[in-house]
Amino acid sequence: MSDVTARPRAVGLPMDRIDGEQKVTGTATYAYEWPLDQPVYLYPLQSTIAVGRITGVDGALAEAEPGVLAVLSHLNAPTLTRPDDPELAVLQSDEVAWRGQFIGAVVAESLETARRAAGLVRVDYESRPPDVMLRADRDDLYSPVHAAAFGTGGGELQDGSPADSVLGDVETALAASPTMVDATYSTPMYHNNPMEPHTAVVTWSDGELVVRCSSQGVSMSRALISGVLGLEPARVRVVSPHVGGGFGSKVYPHTYAVLAAMAARIVRRPVKFTLTRQQMFALVGYRPATIQRIRLAAGRDGRLTAIAHDVIEQTAKAKGYADQVGVCSRMMYAAPHRRTTHRLAPLDVPVPTIMRAPGEAQGMFALESALDEMAIACGLDPVEFRIRNEPEVHPESGLPFSSRHLTDCLREGARRAGWDRRDPAPRSWRDGRWLVGTGVACSTYPSARFPGNAATIRIGPDGRYTVRIAAADLGTGTWTALTQIAADALSVPVGQVEMRIGDSALPTASVAGASAGINSWGTAIWEAADRLRARLRAEHDSIAPPEGLEVTAELPGGNPEAERYAMHSFGAQFAEVRIDEDTGEVRVARLLGMFDVGRVINPKTARSQLIGGMTQGMSMALFEHSVLDPRFGHVVNHDFAQYHIASHSDVHAVEAHWLDQPDPFTNPMGAKGLGEVGIVGTAAAIANAVHHATGVRIRELPITLDKLV
Ligand code: MOS
Repeated sequence: MSDVTARPRAVGLPMDRIDGEQKVTGTATYAYEWPLDQPVYLYPLQSTIAVGRITGVDGALAEAEPGVLAVLSHLNAPTLTRPDDPELAVLQSDEVAWRGQFIGAVVAESLETARRAAGLVRVDYESRPPDVMLRADRDDLYSPVHAAAFGTGGGELQDGSPADSVLGDVETALAASPTMVDATYSTPMYHNNPMEPHTAVVTWSDGELVVRCSSQGVSMSRALISGVLGLEPARVRVVSPHVGGGFGSKVYPHTYAVLAAMAARIVRRPVKFTLTRQQMFALVGYRPATIQRIRLAAGRDGRLTAIAHDVIEQTAKAKGYADQVGVCSRMMYAAPHRRTTHRLAPLDVPVPTIMRAPGEAQGMFALESALDEMAIACGLDPVEFRIRNEPEVHPESGLPFSSRHLTDCLREGARRAGWDRRDPAPRSWRDGRWLVGTGVACSTYPSARFPGNAATIRIGPDGRYTVRIAAADLGTGTWTALTQIAADALSVPVGQVEMRIGDSALPTASVAGASAGINSWGTAIWEAADRLRARLRAEHDSIAPPEGLEVTAELPGGNPEAERYAMHSFGAQFAEVRIDEDTGEVRVARLLGMFDVGRVINPKTARSQLIGGMTQGMSMALFEHSVLDPRFGHVVNHDFAQYHIASHSDVHAVEAHWLDQPDPFTNPMGAKGLGEVGIVGTAAAIANAVHHATGVRIRELPITLDKLV
């Protein structure tokens, strides 16, 4: 593959979204809006107990309602052929594993009828008291060896990493150290909450199942949905051109799609199903709560000698799921002695899933808070302390980094943030009744390339190029960025490229997850373009490319360079907070992030991704918190009135900058992932600033005023 630098033209330009006009004029068709001939509507039944079994279902009243076509429950649901995934295996038994689990559905001619009839179904249960509280002293903690989420590489944690790692002898190093930090940090349950609720619009025609849904990955959804329904993948098509956000909750298909497909098969009509916001809190995943103990040791020279990161995280009894919370401590800083562990607490709760920077978001809150505590203990500036502990290579694998410009991010970010004016003493800066403080924290996120990608390029009439790949655009700008990449790869203007994505009938693609989208799909497109150019050179001397010529590149593997280099995005985040001395109200006056994300394909959409991540990180720091009721096992604050997400009035100055240093090994574009790195570290930067402002160290998110007064 050649390097993009030979022919950059569109890459690097702040192009407007090519789907932007459709979106702002309301003509972009989202899944639920898809026009269908005589659709019917599904309204689900959810368990009202958290754990136990269903002893009876009486749907007679519901069935008698005019317009009701079917009442589904485990008593009459079709048997799924692969019910080994306990989350997807909907209505396969009388067992209830969490409150709000699907236990049935009503299908009717109108949504109103379905919803009303659902209220008429009588369900009896035998219930047991739920066990939903995460505590470090539980005696049922287990190592996530067999808990890998389906669809990943068979590793122990969801990213495929081993659950534990050991290097040297942490205990001896801690005992011998003149300076030590031993602190426990906790993060609550958070919910993904994309704007567009999860939706499945299902039709069966000519033996083919078409699922129009809101998906971060149509190829994987097709594989998993066809598997659970016992259908040939070729007989299932998943279509998802426009997606109103996902934050990870639309990577794996969830039960709603299977339930809608079941219903459509039974009533032999197209079925429309969309979740309500409240239903989303029980059915499409969330970020699991964590308790993390961090121990650091440092020598008199301010160099870390030991890092221990022991993680306990919430998971579901129904299905094990584990974020790689402590994995960031394997690669961020140099230290000869190191240990990371992950243990899961199985609870009667819904199944967690990936949520923007799964693992790193929680883990870097703890690690970067502890780094701040250690810098203070060593009497060193926290920027200087981090630079002093930069590793030369990946500390555990020994691999060099494909690119790591974290020191530049720290220095340049500090310069832009005016860090040199900072008095390090807590409570040293006051503005009337406001205590003001600043904090810094680092960000990181892997820059992976997923296997299983293919792209096709076809030359059409007028010499236009149609590029086909089953990629997804969550609203992030993928559609536009891929068009820019294709244009440069083909050496044609962007106007000559038509990009088709979001349909499993297109060449297979990996999911829009793990910040690996551009890396994975862009490489496949680049490769297809290279092959097309080679064909043209070999077979055609003419200037005009021949209409109908089509080339496909299949990249079954990931990035072969990943065996030789550790690949990560980095960043340094600076926060300025203002805290009302009397009420403890926290305002974030400024966030400034300086990122190392390789070559930026589109500065406009990249900036949105980064400031969006930082804003979500602020929201994680100050507001968001899913509260479980220990008596009934549900999330109490399951709507936007009670689950507060940062709003415009909470957000002041958020700036994202980047170094624009292409990575030589990640992909031909030189890009690194930037979808998730923006959220990582933000919460720690804010917590560190809160400490600087007040002298109070908050180790338990979110940072609410009751913890400060
Ligand atoms: Mo991201 S949580 O992998 O969509």
